[in-house]
Amino acid sequence: PDERTLVLIKPDAVGRGLVGEILSRFERKGLRIDAMASRTMDGDFADQHYAEHVDKAFYPPLKGFMTSGPLVALVLSGDQVIEVVRGMIGSTDGRRAAAGTIRGDFSLSNRENLVHASDSTDSSKREVALWFPELG
Ligand code: CMP
Repeated sequence: PDERTLVLIKPDAVGRGLVGEILSRFERKGLRIDAMASRTMDGDFADQHYAEHVDKAFYPPLKGFMTSGPLVALVLSGDQVIEVVRGMIGSTDGRRAAAGTIRGDFSLSNRENLVHASDSTDSSKREVALWFPELG
């Protein structure tokens, strides 16, 4: 069976009107959208989603940003989708991300970097279960 990954189209992307652009890239790649919802995170949910980052210096402003407005949460599936999506979004810092990637084409920030995606099979299982418990 195909892998799944949890993707967040972050509040900066929603605010800038880039949801369609970003979704379109995933669709044209041939990935399937297994779930999609518009949500606004509260602080407790952000702490759960970013459990591995809560003690880092960059976390308080990241939490403020991620709870600042609605985002679009997606579960995508396809062959090697975790690695494929991470390639499509580019490296964390939009100033360094390669042209042709979502961050490389549309972000100039290492915080407001438009998209989050699971970085491993373990994190994808944890994140899909957190955001879409009905998917198991
Ligand atoms: P994301 O893939 O959602 O995972 C953690 C997030 O923290 C990352 O994208 C960025 O939004 C943010 N982030 C990571 N490193 C830094 C940093 N050095 N400074 C500010 N924000 C960061």
